[in-house]
Amino acid sequence: MAGDRPLLSNRASSEISNDRDLAEEDALLTGQPTARSDSRPWRFWREIGLFIWAVVATAAVVILAVVYQKHADPQAGGGDAKPSGKRNLIFMVSDGMGPTSLSLTRSFTQFANGQAWSKQLAIDQHMIGQSRTRSTSSLITDSAAGATAFSCALKSYNGAISVLPNHEPCGTILEAAKKAGYMTGLVVTTRITDATPACFAAHVNMRGEEDRIAEQMVGDYPLGRVVDLMLGGGRCHFLPNTTEDSCREDGKDVVALAKKNGFNYASSRKDFDALKGGKNIKLPLLGLFAETDIPYEVDRRNENDIYPSLDEMAQAAMTALSEATKDSEKGFFLMIEGSRIDHAGHHNDPVAQVHEVLAYDKAFSSVLRFLKDDPTEGVMVSTSDHETGGLATARQLHPTYPDYVWYPGPLSNATHSSERLTLLYQTFLSSTPPPSEPATADFITNLLSSGLGIHDASDSEISNLVHTPETAQYQFADAISRRSQTGWSTHGHSAADVNIYTSDPEKTKALQGNHENTEVGDFLREYLGVDVESVTKELREKGTGLMAAGKGGKSVSWMGPLPGEGERLDGQDHLAQYTGDHKRKRGVYCDHAH
Ligand SMILES: *[C@@H]1O[C@H](CO)[C@@H](O)[C@H](O)[C@H]1NC(C)=O
Ligand SMILES: *[C@@H]1O[C@H](CO)[C@@H](O)[C@H](O)[C@H]1NC(C)=O
Ligand SMILES: [Zn+2]
Repeated sequence: MAGDRPLLSNRASSEISNDRDLAEEDALLTGQPTARSDSRPWRFWREIGLFIWAVVATAAVVILAVVYQKHADPQAGGGDAKPSGKRNLIFMVSDGMGPTSLSLTRSFTQFANGQAWSKQLAIDQHMIGQSRTRSTSSLITDSAAGATAFSCALKSYNGAISVLPNHEPCGTILEAAKKAGYMTGLVVTTRITDATPACFAAHVNMRGEEDRIAEQMVGDYPLGRVVDLMLGGGRCHFLPNTTEDSCREDGKDVVALAKKNGFNYASSRKDFDALKGGKNIKLPLLGLFAETDIPYEVDRRNENDIYPSLDEMAQAAMTALSEATKDSEKGFFLMIEGSRIDHAGHHNDPVAQVHEVLAYDKAFSSVLRFLKDDPTEGVMVSTSDHETGGLATARQLHPTYPDYVWYPGPLSNATHSSERLTLLYQTFLSSTPPPSEPATADFITNLLSSGLGIHDASDSEISNLVHTPETAQYQFADAISRRSQTGWSTHGHSAADVNIYTSDPEKTKALQGNHENTEVGDFLREYLGVDVESVTKELREKGTGLMAAGKGGKSVSWMGPLPGEGERLDGQDHLAQYTGDHKRKRGVYCDHAH
């Protein structure tokens, strides 16, 4: 109850006080005193004040809107608005690089260069999120399903090269970019026909069909030529089986096919140097600088006169694509892969791994520099398709309680990869007459010391290498892994989440935090604003009934044969199945899909 005071008078006084506040505000806006002693009624002045306030406020809103518009324009940087105008997209893939690869390489670099604990790799400063990597067929993806998640923004089965679980092709970001008028490029250190690059410009049911992938990548498939620039290895899949360096099963000359489709061709360090760092590239260009994979960086750096580095190829590609699009309304899409971080993981070779990651970090820095200097708007996103090796910067060597240590020192004394040492060993073993056992033991002792910096090899280490040369590669890698106390849980991939990095966290807000790998693919197409669905439609229309040569003179779908029984395990069922396969299998080392 309001007691004695009438309700009405209460209300009136509150109205008056509100009016006074308004009057004071009006005074601030108009410069008029709030005195009410003049002959005009209070109401009049209040109306005038409100009117002026409204005019000023409207003007302010208009000005703010114009200013905001300008800032929201992606050309001016920042904002969540869809980008418009000319732009470049560089997508970097660190194949098989998990978070621990960075710990390993960072500590190695600090040790080798006497740097402070706080010293980071270039890439460390650009992390924005993580990607979850499972495929449709397994919690552990391979690079084919991994790259299909990027290229098509769709999940598929392990082994799928931009085809879906129903074996229909899916259009890729590169194909759509080409259709939209962008220039396109692929730079890798493995075979250009390997899963990651293949997923951007080919469609096959099984990743092993690299001969078919080579043909498609030079334009022999429903869309014609879509790649303007390819730099990497894998020459042997382009040469007819009548030539010595060929690894093709048939007599097709895919280099000739590429030339017919307009490609210029470079196949040596001399050819690469003639490209003048990209200033002298005439597109389209097919550059294949190794028969298969380009050697690991730890070996390649001593053979710089034979093979270009990842960084050199990346820089040449950016220079060439920038130059080629200088008068175009569209920029370019370029995929750069540090392909062999994955191989070092498969080989469980920490020496090869740290140098692969450093090579990637160097290319990463060059991309940042390019984007900063190039007048065209652009962004780089970098991520991995999966982790490889189940790498741990820790290893318990004995059953007793472990020490908390791992040592980068042994890695910094090593000068070669286990792959290269194995090649040297095989060459030695194949000499005539066959070397004696003691000569072989001497050779191994020297190899361990000169190649891995291991001067304390045990008798059993040497004896095992002498008697089981077929597993030499794993033995070399294990010798250096044990000494550095580097752990590995598999010679294959793992299901670890992998990091996402970018040149510009503002433009890549959509990728901050933890994401499904397909969302990386979503970002790529949205940034370029290209229509991937219409490419899918075109592929299906043109591809229906289209046949190609298969094994034994039989014809198969243009996407090649389907995986055999049990090669895919789609769905959820198998994920829950434990098969009792924990028992020790005896010494089987086999080739594996990466
Ligand atoms: C080369 O390929 C042709 C088919 O193009 C095949 O008939 C022939 O057997 C192959 N030769 C070798 C040595 O593989
Ligand atoms: C590395 O090599 C140097 C010189 O041979 C040697 O003194 C050092 O002990 C080696 N370090 C490791 C960790 O093997
Ligand atoms: Zn792999």
